Amino acid sequence: MKLLTIVGARPQFIKACMLSKAFKKHPQMEEIIIHTGQHYDYNMSDVFFKQLNLPEADYNLGAGSGTHGEQTAKMLAELEKLMSSLKPDLIIVYGDTNSTVAGSLAAAKLHIPIAHIESGLRSFNKKMPEEINRIITDHLSDYLFCPTDTAVINLSNEGIRKGVHQTGDIMYDTVTFFKPHALQHSTILKDLALAEQDYYLATIHRAENTDDPVRLKSIFTAFRQLKKNIVIPLHPRTKNKIKEFNLSSLVSSPNIKLADPLNYFDMIALAANANIILTDSGGLQKEAYMLRTPCITLRDETEWLETVEAGWNHLTGADTNTIVNTVKNIQTPQAYPLLFGEGTADKIANILVKEFKKG
Ligand code: UD1
Repeated sequence: MKLLTIVGARPQFIKACMLSKAFKKHPQMEEIIIHTGQHYDYNMSDVFFKQLNLPEADYNLGAGSGTHGEQTAKMLAELEKLMSSLKPDLIIVYGDTNSTVAGSLAAAKLHIPIAHIESGLRSFNKKMPEEINRIITDHLSDYLFCPTDTAVINLSNEGIRKGVHQTGDIMYDTVTFFKPHALQHSTILKDLALAEQDYYLATIHRAENTDDPVRLKSIFTAFRQLKKNIVIPLHPRTKNKIKEFNLSSLVSSPNIKLADPLNYFDMIALAANANIILTDSGGLQKEAYMLRTPCITLRDETEWLETVEAGWNHLTGADTNTIVNTVKNIQTPQAYPLLFGEGTADKIANILVKEFKKG
């Protein structure tokens, strides 16, 4: 069985590595990896392939940056050509990026079955490009692998009930597998002169925050008021916007430690040892929970409602006072329900093997 895995952005490398490992247990599963080139900097892409032992991509489409239309169109055109010549039995897409929607659109029109990993998530905010990408991908997919019960309900509410599987969250597999190595080998705390449980970790990259100067300013104003060091590995988009909106002096404060994008092991080590994580990333909200670090989500809504309901995640939006007060009053909950399942990659691989045996 020929599988075409399509990845392009940082979180997709983190998810795909575990499924690749799971497929290796089934010799009949031949996996071909296509990198769309959406993320291309060494520290946004290559370093993850290396650390996570993800096999090198068989093809790189070099799509690079651009407007949503340009970026998606470039990928779509190249993917259609490749899929037509490779003739896979199934394509696998992850999450909600432009690479995801380009892969599923190309496959659907060539009548190639689609498996969507991290299916059924909704923010109910169509201003987010990710929400549009998810909705389209879910409606085109044949196998929908949901990380949570909420995701299954979301799909059912849109009339999607066939091919839906609640398999848990594949990122939990990755964190569980690599955490011991990361904690043992990462030197990031020492490198940044940080003590365990004595700093905050933040990431900001969502267009709704980075592309709106009012929100970006409001978030950094809050960060300046915090009483501890706050480490911020800057996504290239955020770095560009800080320059564009002339926020460099606001961002330079003795407690704000800006860093380049970090590799997976350093990120896990920092996330595990932080007092609080402040983020607009979907993946980091989950990793915070998986590593038992309280989280503040700098958005007005989240796809990961379970973490909020469990008391580990707090939605603040971008309002300065709300962020500062939430940091002051945050508590680590006693209860820690298992939200994300276990052995997700093996479950997905087994389902696909069985389905394709049926013919
Ligand atoms: C994308 C996804 C988002 C995901 C995120 C993970 C979409 C619509 N968004 O957002 O869902 O959470 O990846 O990081 O697909 N850039 C570089 N070097 C790189 C990559 C990007 O400099 O290696 C810069 C470029 O200036 C680019 C900007 O970052 O224009 C944004 O990159 P893009 O791929 O458009 O989306 P992300 O913001 O990374």
